[in-house]
Amino acid sequence: MEITRLKSQQPLSPYAASWDAAIGFAQWDQEDKIDTIRQFLLSKEEEILKLPYQGQGRTGLDENAVTTRYGRYHIFDFAKECPELNDLQDWIRGMWAEFIIADNTQPYEVQFTCWYNILRKGEKIDIHRHQAGDRGYLSANLHLDNYKNSKTVYEHMEMAMSLPNVKGGLTYFPGYVEHYVPVWEGDEPRVSLAMDLYIWMPPYYGVQDHLEHRKFIDSAYLQKIFSG
Ligand SMILES: [Fe+2]
Repeated sequence: MEITRLKSQQPLSPYAASWDAAIGFAQWDQEDKIDTIRQFLLSKEEEILKLPYQGQGRTGLDENAVTTRYGRYHIFDFAKECPELNDLQDWIRGMWAEFIIADNTQPYEVQFTCWYNILRKGEKIDIHRHQAGDRGYLSANLHLDNYKNSKTVYEHMEMAMSLPNVKGGLTYFPGYVEHYVPVWEGDEPRVSLAMDLYIWMPPYYGVQDHLEHRKFIDSAYLQKIFSG
């Protein structure tokens, strides 16, 4: 897990902005499993599009995009049909632990939502953010092939960094960080996963009920990783 920061300089006036966003990157090396998951998700597109529209979340995508059904399903519910998803989930979980240990933040029980995006030639994702509120935590995305010349740009307070969209590339970022994907020019569909993580501390912290969410980090996992 490599961490890069979008970080302000020390503010020199009481009204100068101050921020420090850790962006974590890691790459899953299970290429055959990634191919299987990508094919599976493409085969699922028609079924997902039959689900009710949820919203575009400022992505600029329309009702023909699976992205706009976010929260209507949970990717890891499909592990019965595509068992490779279980391996991916285990790895993503491990990378969360590496990320928060490297960034030295407190561990919490966490819930998550997970959906996916398919971009075809000429499509893009407009600049948007996932979680702006006082309970915001982490978001993530993961790419399912080497999408040449495609990148995701992360931006905060006019400071930006781009990450290339590589096969198995996972990025963790604070949910308030805006991001976008320039126009995709490839002939093959560009498939990626997206996740929002939420601290699970009912009744104070949780996930909005209208979004399908599952346990990501439970107390047993925390015990295993942090009490050893
Ligand atoms: Fe996003």
